[in-house]
Amino acid sequence: MNDLEKLDAVRAMRWLDGSLELLDQRALPQQEIWLRLNSVRDVADAIRDMVVRGAPAIGVTAAYGCVLAAAERHAAAPGGWRQGIEADLDTLGAARPTAVNLHWAIRRMRDVIQQCDGDPVPALLREAEAIHREDIEANRRMGELGAPFLQGSEVVLTHCNTGSLATGGFGTALGVIRSAWSRGFIQSIYAAETRPWLQGSRLTAWELQQDGIPATIITDSAAAHLMAAGGVGWVVVGADRITAAGDVANKIGTYSHAIAARYHGLGFMVVAPTSTIDRDITDAAAIPIEERNAAELLSLAGNATAPLGSAAYNPVFDITPAGLVDVLVTEKGVVENPDLASVAALFEA
Ligand code: MRU
Repeated sequence: MNDLEKLDAVRAMRWLDGSLELLDQRALPQQEIWLRLNSVRDVADAIRDMVVRGAPAIGVTAAYGCVLAAAERHAAAPGGWRQGIEADLDTLGAARPTAVNLHWAIRRMRDVIQQCDGDPVPALLREAEAIHREDIEANRRMGELGAPFLQGSEVVLTHCNTGSLATGGFGTALGVIRSAWSRGFIQSIYAAETRPWLQGSRLTAWELQQDGIPATIITDSAAAHLMAAGGVGWVVVGADRITAAGDVANKIGTYSHAIAARYHGLGFMVVAPTSTIDRDITDAAAIPIEERNAAELLSLAGNATAPLGSAAYNPVFDITPAGLVDVLVTEKGVVENPDLASVAALFEA
């Protein structure tokens, strides 16, 4: 086991004996519960209910969901399994709206479905495992590419959870932070708690603790104060969907961090595999921004935090314009000050 593997112990999903197992992220950090899923319907529910979350992890999970769909359809009608599977793919694709990795993974699985002869399960499982493996490889590559930018900055701030829990493994923004930490480039990591679902405090802090990497939790609203106090070199975040022009949809609160980082002269880095880039969209207004249940805002761990009957607005992603992004790290390369031409060039390389 090399140093980086020791710093990456957590996994969000595993395929075991014909079933998909997911670490239930709703229960962390109090409990580590693995759920066993045997149907595509269960997988779609798990994505919608955030048993698993994070754009690349949603894509990998959906790929395994396609395997379960094909297994069910083939068992029920070996000669006509293709009939109805499109409806299963649609169900999976509708589970969450913002992360484009979901559609990217389903598209890859659909290509294999179209070529399958006989029992589709072995070929589809091979493809799902390839998507899973390639995601980890992409994350490690992004770690190598992104870490040198953090050298000498000592302190970084991250938002939401972008680590092994949010991906096939290793992480995007947290992968860069992991790499930078292992090389001694940074000494201190601040994790913004990420209201209202608390991905930063519940998941990022837990995941880093599993790997022996210390993190300090702050409220989201303390971030600008921390930046003003000096010391933070970079804000490092992931993405759920990036337009062809480099605008970034990510967890609500990312945009505020980007504005504050620019104001204070800090670096703002986005780390995402190219499966997160939606080349069909140039106008960020076309990205569907998920709104979740008001209950996420109005209560905490089952206890009311607002008067009964209060209204609440709960968009869970925001858009950071490309102009606020200093560095975009992908597995295909790094783009500084991303725009239409430089993002397109990533795909030509
Ligand atoms: O609502 P979530 O928890 O699925 O949102 C996750 C994020 O916004 C992450 O920053 C993003 O998916 C990148 S994860 C590598």
